[in-house]
Amino acid sequence: MDFSELAAKRISVRGYRPDPVPEDVLRRILETAHTAPSAANRQPWHIVVLRDEPARRAVHEAYPRDWFLSAPLILAVCVEPAAAWTRAEDGWNAADCDGAILMTHLTLAAAEAGLGTCWIAAFSPAKLRAALALPDGIVPFALTPLGVPADGGRPKQRKPLADIVHDGRW
Ligand SMILES: Cc1cc2nc3c(=O)[nH]c(=O)nc-3n(C[C@H](O)[C@H](O)[C@H](O)COP(=O)(O)O)c2cc1C
Repeated sequence: MDFSELAAKRISVRGYRPDPVPEDVLRRILETAHTAPSAANRQPWHIVVLRDEPARRAVHEAYPRDWFLSAPLILAVCVEPAAAWTRAEDGWNAADCDGAILMTHLTLAAAEAGLGTCWIAAFSPAKLRAALALPDGIVPFALTPLGVPADGGRPKQRKPLADIVHDGRW
């Protein structure tokens, strides 16, 4: 599978089979995610792996959708802004950008392994902080279930390329 095929294959999966994710497959996905670039190579990220039912149920409180619990695993990507690179001139902090690149690598690595993910940002940050017992300074960035997709998912819907590509000038 070349990169464009992999990018097309990765879709948001909102229904999972209960089949477990083998530890070696999970490990490979995490290792691939960790090859992501980050500003000044600060790697200001953490990934919390939620396996058991009580832990996943606690996180479900922060994102109460039935399908979310169907996956055998939930991954929570957190960032640490104080550890991230900050641009001196205007104070722009790269933590969220770095977290997004990590998530992109993670979701593509999962797709390569035949597993589904769904990038979730519409969680309650306060409830997620509590569920994960996050220390001060660690910010919940994104959740994703990880598991075998229950079906083929929705086809991708995108704007026409001509609507977003500007040739020479806007
Ligand atoms: C930053 C971000 C936040 C998202 N948050 C949610 C979410 O909270 N719940 C959800 O079901 N999907 C969420 N999604 C998934 C998008 O809805 C999805 O990527 C988009 O509809 C395109 O579909 P595709 O991923 O299948 O290509 C999010 C995606 C991104 C990149």
